Amino acid sequence: MTFEYKGENLYFDGFNLSKIADDFGTPCYVYSRNLIESNFKEYQAAFGEREHLICYAVKANSNLSILKNLKALGAGFDIVSDGELERVKCVENSCANIVYSGVGKTEAEIENAIKSGVGCINLESLDELKMILAIAKQLGIVLPVSVRVNPNVNPNTHPYISTGLKENKFGVPIEDARELYELVSNSEWLVPIGIACHIGSQLTDSNPVIEAVREVVHLAEELKRIGIPLKDIDVGGGLGIKYDNEGPPSIRQWVSDIKSCVPSSFRIKIEPGRSIVGSAGVLLTKIIAYKDNGKRKFAISDAAMNDLLRPALYNAYHQVLPCIKQEKRRGLSFDLVGPICETGDWLAKRQNFSVSQGDLLAIKDVGAYGFCMASNYNSRPRPPEVLIEKDGTARLIRTRESVADMLVMETKCLKG
Ligand code: LLP
Repeated sequence: MTFEYKGENLYFDGFNLSKIADDFGTPCYVYSRNLIESNFKEYQAAFGEREHLICYAVKANSNLSILKNLKALGAGFDIVSDGELERVKCVENSCANIVYSGVGKTEAEIENAIKSGVGCINLESLDELKMILAIAKQLGIVLPVSVRVNPNVNPNTHPYISTGLKENKFGVPIEDARELYELVSNSEWLVPIGIACHIGSQLTDSNPVIEAVREVVHLAEELKRIGIPLKDIDVGGGLGIKYDNEGPPSIRQWVSDIKSCVPSSFRIKIEPGRSIVGSAGVLLTKIIAYKDNGKRKFAISDAAMNDLLRPALYNAYHQVLPCIKQEKRRGLSFDLVGPICETGDWLAKRQNFSVSQGDLLAIKDVGAYGFCMASNYNSRPRPPEVLIEKDGTARLIRTRESVADMLVMETKCLKG
């Protein structure tokens, strides 16, 4: 049981959440190492003997301790910036199992990636190809690359996280990819090793992915016929999780659907983020005040949109549980909102349990795209992150930012 009440108290992965709030304060992100590991291992088990590489999408949750744990389980990494590359380098000596995605890599980022020996750079445009070729030549380093194609498949997800349609900025139109592969294979400095695609995130149906992967395999076979054999089919990430009533396929089913449309001569690369860490995190927050404005009731929490942006940005639903058991109350309906000076600063709508000043709440399923999307808006320091270890202890894996931390980059520039 991931969440259960023992007596009055809400436990997450066997740990009393009120105790974590006492020890580390609120707001506070809490993750379960057990859950992260079991999700990752489910991917491994689903691939079984099939040649594969699971490149965890660092953007979903980039905390160094989490990266270190995943590396120990055999993960490679999918990165999209120099910052993410340097994060992985903190926990991993070799960059051979890194895939560098990203629609706009700068010259400096590409140079660092090449010098670091990343396993593959995914090309996103002809301009990028030319830039990477020039840098590789200048450095005198031969570089493995894939082309990220845009297969023009609708993944049926939130428009902000849909990436595989022609109207999206990502990838090279699949019909133009052949030209890029010819340029790559004729160059001295780039070696084509695969094809990549990623059509979107929080997908709850594998059919669009299957459609995209079939197109990609078709292209790989066509390239082989013209003398450009490739090893990797990179299917991207995207498997959704259950926040509310969604019914996403299991990891096992998702992988099995993908395996069934990729011939076994190819290695499958996959870049999951949310499905590994999403359900493994909660955000603890304390109620600062409760008020009834006549038309609407509000519980104002010490967490806000700067700590968890998903509701404000995507209208995303996250279930909220009281850390001390409360009965549901018919007719009661309050919105959970943060202290930020924006009406869009809400975390959950229409909650129907009793709540009063000082109460502790747990916002569920925030392990992915939670802390990593946090900001300092309203000059609010970012919350700490705590990991429940396998031995049942809770360990700080990122300290709470202080106001001084937040100001130092400006105080050191103050003049006069
Ligand atoms: N690979 C690439 C190239 C990606 O762009 C992404 C996510 C992934 C892998 C991992 O996808 P996942 O398995 O996590 O779905 N902030 C949004 C999600 C943005 C996803 C961006 N790309 C959210 O909070 O829902």
